[in-house]
Amino acid sequence: MAVELTVIGSINVDFVARMERLPKPGETVTARQFERHPGGKGANQAVAAARLGAQVTMIGAVGDDELAEFALGGLLEAGVELEVVRSGQTGVALIYVDMQGENEIAVFPGANANVAPRTLEGVVLCQLEVPDEVVFAAAEKASFFALNAAPARELDLDPDLLVVNRFEHEVMKRGKLVAVTHGKDGAVLYENGKQVAGSAAPAIIPVDGTGAGDAFTAALVVSLLEGKPYEEALRFSCAAGARTAATFGAQQSLPDRELLEGWIEKL
Ligand code: RIB
Repeated sequence: MAVELTVIGSINVDFVARMERLPKPGETVTARQFERHPGGKGANQAVAAARLGAQVTMIGAVGDDELAEFALGGLLEAGVELEVVRSGQTGVALIYVDMQGENEIAVFPGANANVAPRTLEGVVLCQLEVPDEVVFAAAEKASFFALNAAPARELDLDPDLLVVNRFEHEVMKRGKLVAVTHGKDGAVLYENGKQVAGSAAPAIIPVDGTGAGDAFTAALVVSLLEGKPYEEALRFSCAAGARTAATFGAQQSLPDRELLEGWIEKL
């Protein structure tokens, strides 16, 4: 039976330009490629979990503008159930990606700032692209509360699962289970401060690291809910992140279960 979870978080449209190298302040660089994708950490994680077979509800907000339908397209296509309010401008992310897969992102939250706090039951997954009150309320009654603390800020919360990269970990350390990602070096899982698992990441030619953390987070939540042992869950999640970084774009690169399992078998 499919595992069930609710994601409360951001829904964006990503405007992505790929270029030889990232511009310095004051510099103009000619991009080689430009694309527009549905994005936002919340929406990406909801789509990633749904593609891995979970039954997902997404709570969030988009604008009452021309970007709104596009922003929701990936969620609808992945079969995510939507509880979305509409007002103001849809959130956008301006993303630069260089030929080594490094990125720079500026996010305008727009309607994401209007997501209303609410308590939720069951498994809840949050990120930090919505106001603090939304995160606190979501944690209150959840039976399992998972937080991907990105973009990083310190919150007085003790989630059941915290997912952070090595930089975010310096800001937010609390959590019963804490997964720290180390990019191409894989990830480590701690339980009550003690390391319980570690995994290398599969070697890839990096194309675009955007969304790799979303893929990792969703895969870890889904595999833990499915009862996978820690080592196996972490290996699966590292593979999900790496597979996402091996293709251009965030949401569109998130692997479904068949693709991911097939890819892992060939590694
Ligand atoms: O994690 C990647 C996401 O961060 C992008 O899709 C962008 O919308 C930003 O929110």
